[in-house]
Amino acid sequence: MASKNEFGTKIGLIAATVGSAVGLGNVWRFPAETQTNGGAAFLLLYILCVLLLGIPVMLAEFSLGRGGRSDTIGVFKKLSPGSKWWLTGLLAVIASYIIICYYMVVAGWTLEYFIESVSGGLYDSLTDADSAEALHGTFAAKMDEYVSSDMRPLLFTYAMIALNIAVLLGGVRKGIENLSNVLMPLLFVILLVLCFITLSLPGSGEGVKFFLTPDFSRITPATVVNALGQAFFSLSLGMGILITYSSYYPGDTKLVNTSVIVSLLSLLVAVLMGLIIFPAVKSFGLDSEPLKGATLVFVTLPEVFANLPAPQVWSSLFFLLLLVAALTSTISIAEVSVKMMIDRFRLSRKAGVLIVMLPLLALSAVCSLSFGSLSDFRIFGLTVFDLFDHITTNVFLPLVSLGVCIYMGWFAPKHLLSDELSNKGTLRSPLTGSIQFIIKYVAPILIATILISNYL
Ligand code: PFF
Repeated sequence: MASKNEFGTKIGLIAATVGSAVGLGNVWRFPAETQTNGGAAFLLLYILCVLLLGIPVMLAEFSLGRGGRSDTIGVFKKLSPGSKWWLTGLLAVIASYIIICYYMVVAGWTLEYFIESVSGGLYDSLTDADSAEALHGTFAAKMDEYVSSDMRPLLFTYAMIALNIAVLLGGVRKGIENLSNVLMPLLFVILLVLCFITLSLPGSGEGVKFFLTPDFSRITPATVVNALGQAFFSLSLGMGILITYSSYYPGDTKLVNTSVIVSLLSLLVAVLMGLIIFPAVKSFGLDSEPLKGATLVFVTLPEVFANLPAPQVWSSLFFLLLLVAALTSTISIAEVSVKMMIDRFRLSRKAGVLIVMLPLLALSAVCSLSFGSLSDFRIFGLTVFDLFDHITTNVFLPLVSLGVCIYMGWFAPKHLLSDELSNKGTLRSPLTGSIQFIIKYVAPILIATILISNYL
């Protein structure tokens, strides 16, 4: 029988890992990036990046986590004692902690929008006579009220922190695995229902065409860099999450198969989101609005729902989907620090969870207030929220991925990678050789290019 610090079932470990990967990155970052980067050509590049680079880098993290069976810092200390590689793990822990601070705020908004959809508050001031502009104005004003006031969003952020604490206290099996087993199938059902609805709207074909017919002339070096960044973010690479989760994988888990399944499901969610959003905005003529992150989800989509019969139903379903995606991702990223506390400082899970989560009451509050009273407080011209997002996505995450690939390709104990990929020689996969080649040579060069290009 597996220990309580391992995932209990194959389905459970896949559900938890997919739960982590499928987050706001797939649901809102992907459609926004696709629109600004020219549609189908970007989708194609993104798919290539996931398959050719994302999967091998994911396998480097899996092999490191399961081979070292410790927290993100501990794996390096255990596998290469006396070396300084543990600093890569430390960077991952710092990056993941900075990410939780602001991601928890967005997770709070999704809870707020879900509750406002169910209660009808989001749609209560609409009349049949509202013009398109009036609708847009109403939802933009609501977003302002829900996000930029000081107290409201803070309370919902705190509610999300409390939910996270409850699940994390349950531990790997009872908390994370059980929750993911219920929520992940629910997420896929909601996605399929919404997709069916938007694809049956009149004029939706135009949106599908934009999303699925590539125009290769739109591909530029910047598009490639963006596609690679999106692929890494949406697979949760460079955050220590996959190292942490794979340390809970039983020894007989087939890592290559798992990485392919997780990546394909994450891709599928992104594609289904595209098939929900583009046909819907085309059908209602909303495609001239910029589909930028928060506005896309919190203004444009409510406009779409307001145009449908029973807007409250579709809106509740969509924000439940977003809430599920956000919750399973925040749990996974918080677990990086929780496991670090448990393994490094020999704390109980309860103490570890509280030490990690309680400071968020202050840190997330600063991020939340970045949209309210603290909006004028700027560092390098950015609000605290934007600064946290910017340094993690553009600097820390690529640095950690680069460190992991160079370590696994060149400095880890000999045979660690091949032993983990083949479960100590018991599995044969025709892909092993190419995966090792990519981790050693291709990934470091491409990731370094992204890092440098961010500064050009
Ligand atoms: N793959 C996740 C996403 O697409 O949202 C990445 C992630 C971000 C996971 C933030 C967890 C998190 F807190």
